[in-house]
Amino acid sequence: MIDLADAVRVMDRCEALARHSEEQGRLTRRFATPALAAAAGEVAAWMRAVGMGVRRDNAGNLIGRYEAAEAAGAIDGASPHPRTLLLGSHLDSVRDAGRYDGPLGVLIALAVIERLHAQARRLPLAIEVLAFADEEGLRYGTSYLGSKALAGAFDPTLLERVDDDGVRMDEAIRAQGGDPAAIPADARARDDLVGYCEAHIEQGPVLEAEGLPVGVVSAIAGQGRFTVTFEGMAGHAGTVPMALRHDALCAAAEFVLAAEALARETPGLVATVGQLVVEPSASNVIPGRAVLSLDVRHQDDATRLRSCDYLRATVGRIAVNRGVAGRWDVVQEDNATPCDPALGDALGRAVASLGLPVRRLPSGAGHDGVVLAALCPVAMLFVRCRGGISHHPAESVTVEDVAVAVEALARFVEIPVF
Ligand code: GLV
Ligand code: MN
Ligand code: MN
Repeated sequence: MIDLADAVRVMDRCEALARHSEEQGRLTRRFATPALAAAAGEVAAWMRAVGMGVRRDNAGNLIGRYEAAEAAGAIDGASPHPRTLLLGSHLDSVRDAGRYDGPLGVLIALAVIERLHAQARRLPLAIEVLAFADEEGLRYGTSYLGSKALAGAFDPTLLERVDDDGVRMDEAIRAQGGDPAAIPADARARDDLVGYCEAHIEQGPVLEAEGLPVGVVSAIAGQGRFTVTFEGMAGHAGTVPMALRHDALCAAAEFVLAAEALARETPGLVATVGQLVVEPSASNVIPGRAVLSLDVRHQDDATRLRSCDYLRATVGRIAVNRGVAGRWDVVQEDNATPCDPALGDALGRAVASLGLPVRRLPSGAGHDGVVLAALCPVAMLFVRCRGGISHHPAESVTVEDVAVAVEALARFVEIPVF
């Protein structure tokens, strides 16, 4: 029987962090906002309380370090730095989010450190708990800003991007005390790193359907994010005959349905238009401009790229047929990321040691491991969530499943694979 006390604390803390929101009555915590800083501040205090060294980098990532047993972890005696294992997840959220996507992984990692601290133990390797400042990309449209800063993959041209209120990214970072120009220098050295492991809600229905509390992630699906713009001709809703219109919203609507149709007929493909901006947006004016977001994902990169080519051509075809201009801009593209087999096996051994079957499953959602895979081997532990619901306030996990995840991760860090 697994002790629930650690998991109860994790759940209480998820609750506490959910109170740090930019919006009254719902959870929205974007990159470089006071709400995110407040959540990170609370986590920092919990980290300090268990003897971790805590710092924030210029992108706003929170990094707590639990040192190794003295000298024990030095790499072959050649380096003064002990080997370091990274754990964690992200603290930013989508709009009207649930409370577990991101924070759960940070807090499960912290629970592992709390156990070690309570036993006055240090491992032969140091553990850093990371709380990334932007995984979702809600504020500036590109995700993984936090992990990209840590991995030395941050693109400084993004600093000129503006959010919906016209606030530039570099201003937002400065307002939170970061120095945007110093972000490249925050890149984490890789020589001491043995891996990154993130616990996360599954965000899908597989574990629930199979009656399993946790699963080991095999790979993270690739994704493409695009902006599609149709420019037509605004005009009077009462006087311009239908045959003479160049309605940008009708072009966008046709595209949305074409994307849905393609995804429905292509096994494993998902395509989503989640944002649509219409101008001038008046009930008696024909829409002159429509801008939409497109998110396309598949486990197989070739299928995803082929699908994106088709959808790009579809923009052109719709534009020609309707006498509007069509434009396709790439926001972000990431290939599928396989998890590291050796770390996955170690995680599997930790799960099996609890008497549980080891279910390996891919992740359709994106995670910071996509970026960190360029820095070190990555692994992920999925936790069952109710109905597979996520990116929604109804996200739900049980304390029993969280207890299994804490126990599995606590055993994982002890496996002498590192
Ligand atoms: C992140 O949650 C994503 O997959 O969009
Ligand atoms: Mn998410
Ligand atoms: Mn997430």
